[in-house]
Formats: sequence, structure tokens, C-alpha cells
Amino acid sequence: MFKKFFGQFNKGLGIDLGTTKTIVYQQDRGIVVSESSVVAVNIRTDQILAVGDEAMKMVGKTPPHIVATIPLDNGIISDFEITEKMLKYFMDRVAAGRIALAVKPKVVVGIPLDITEVEKKAVEDAVLSAGASQVFLVENIMAAAIGARIPIQDPSGNMIVNLGGGLTEIAVISLDGIVNWKSSRVAGLTLDKDIIRFARDEFNLVLGEIVAEDIKKKIGSALELTEPLTMQMRGRDIISGLPKEFDVNDSQIRVAIFKSIQHILDTIKATLETTPPELVADIYQKGIILTGGLALLKNFDKFIAQGIEIPVHVADDPQTCTIRGLGVTIDDEHLLKDIIIPSSQ
Ligand SMILES: Nc1ncnc2c1ncn2[C@@H]1O[C@H](COP(=O)(O)OP(=O)(O)OP(=O)(O)O)[C@@H](O)[C@H]1O
Ligand SMILES: [Mg+2]
Repeated sequence: MFKKFFGQFNKGLGIDLGTTKTIVYQQDRGIVVSESSVVAVNIRTDQILAVGDEAMKMVGKTPPHIVATIPLDNGIISDFEITEKMLKYFMDRVAAGRIALAVKPKVVVGIPLDITEVEKKAVEDAVLSAGASQVFLVENIMAAAIGARIPIQDPSGNMIVNLGGGLTEIAVISLDGIVNWKSSRVAGLTLDKDIIRFARDEFNLVLGEIVAEDIKKKIGSALELTEPLTMQMRGRDIISGLPKEFDVNDSQIRVAIFKSIQHILDTIKATLETTPPELVADIYQKGIILTGGLALLKNFDKFIAQGIEIPVHVADDPQTCTIRGLGVTIDDEHLLKDIIIPSSQ
């Protein structure tokens, strides 16, 4: 029935417009785009040189007239024009060679919890001008919960923490609705900045953002590891300006990121403290679910479980929960109707 609603000749699209990653789901096909949310622009000519992973490769390596722009800031569109062009590029690529997609697709797109009407309208406008016939808004955290197969329809408290690149969102969901939530801008990118600061303060070393993220993913952890990890950290010496390398270990990175992960834990605690007791009882019993890319930080689940004394589970493939949930809503009209956010128009 809903396939008819989305159009028989046209496949609906789901878009997870993340601070670090943009993922597109096409009805009946699955994930068709999963790339960095980056656009490289030649500011002399205003020409777009690369979008997505191609543009990401240019970060930190561009001459002054080329700028690699991240058009989203903590989950919110900060550069409308570039966001629209990035979306158009991805949507055109999905449509390429498919006569069916000569018809504009209907799109379900995720939005953060803490968003103003103006920011919401910017998302709708960007998706429409990128080539959608109609836009439906769904909260990212709801989509993530659906993607993580959390029984959100049940009359019982479900707590989900989505640990993204630019946002940490925490929600308690019951009967298809968000009962309580908190959001923080301390997320994956904050940890990268912590590592950059650590390298500068401890070693007089200037690190690139990509190197810092790589260190976080490879040896970053929230609690001590059974096997210690070490890697080389390459950067530029602040004083000499020359390239330099140092060995860095998991324990140093743990210290560097501690304040940020403690802040995330405190935000989870604060959400529990303001949740109705009946729902807290359910959460104690079921545990909380982590989604988003930062849920892959080693031992982050154990760190949170120790801090709140509630079991913590990482969802399967946490980084794709949001887009898989958006995909589910395209195929389930009733579910979409239950969770849709009214349009700003
Ligand atoms: N193995 C890993 N260990 C630690 N962090 C990781 C790992 N894999 C991915 N990440 C981090 O996850 C973050 C991206 O997660 P995700 O794709 O869920 O965010 P996003 O949707 O782009 O951003 P947001 O939802 O905040 O707008 C990045 O900061 C990335 O470095
Ligand atoms: Mg996200």
C-alpha cells in the first residue's frame, strides 16, 4: 500500500544527513550512498570540485583557493547552498541511468531533536531543491531506534543513546513517542579535537583532523584494554615546522578524551534523573542501546554501564541504524504516520 503512496514508478529515498556522513537509502535497493559530508569548492570560480569521500581526501591538503567545506555543524545545516549541492549530487547519482527516477522521488529525512523551525525548514528546502518531490521529516533518534529494532511501540520505557560525529542524542521512547530527551554537542568530533589538543600540549605536534580520527578509531578507548595498543602519530612540529612522529598509546588517548566521554556519561545520567520512575524501572530491566559511529569506541559501552549501573548494549552495525530505520519507515506507512514530524510549511 505504501509503495503506491511513494509512487509505483519511483523509489522512495531515505537520507541520513549526518555531520560527518551522509547516507542514502533507496527503496528496494538498500544503502546506495555512504560518504563523508564534505564538499570541495574552488572559491575563485565557485565551482564544486569534489563531493563526499573524494572531497574528504582533500581535507588539510588544499591550496588556499580550494576549500573543503563541511556544510553541517553539530547536525544542523550551517551552509545551505553547499548542503543543497551535496544532496543534489548524491540524489542525481542514485537516479543516474534509471528512467524510473526521471520522476522526482519522495524523501524521508532525519533531523536532530534540538532543532528550530527555521533550521527544520532549511532541511526541507535543501532536500526539495536537490530534487525531491516531497519531504517527510523524522527524528534521527526515532529512526536509529527503529534501525536498532527497539520495540518503540510498546508501552514500556526504551532508552537509546545515538553517539554521532557532531551530536550525542539521548531519548526515552514509549508508545511511539519521545517521553524525555537530552542532546549535547560533545560527540565524535569533540574527541578528535581532544586528541589534537593532547598532541599539541604534550608533544608540540600539530595533528591533522584525519590523523586524529584515525588514532581515536584504532587505539581510542573509554576503559583500560586487555591488550595495550600503540601507534605512530604523524604531524608537524610547532617550533621547527618540520614533519615529526611520536609513539602514542591507548592510555594517553584515554586521558586525552576522558573529559568528553565523562560529559556524555553525565548527560545520560541527567536524562535518567528526569525520566518518570515507571519508565526508569523498564530501562533498568532492559538496559540501554547505543547507536551511531562513536558507539564503536572501545569499551564505551562498559564505561557507560559502570557509570549508570544499568546494562548497556551496542546495536548491530551502530553507524547504519539511523539510515536503516529511515528505510523501514519508507516501507511502513503506519509507522511513518505515527512518528512523522509536522512540516515547517
Ligand atoms: N571504530 C570507531 N571508533 C571510534 N569512533 C568511531 C569509530 N567508527 C566511527 N567513529 C566515529 O563516529 C562518528 C560518526 O558517527 P555517525 O556516522 O553516527 O555520525 P553522523 O551521523 O555523521 O553525525 P551526527 O549524527 O552527529 O550528525 C565519527 O566521529 C567517527 O570518527
Ligand atoms: Mg547521525
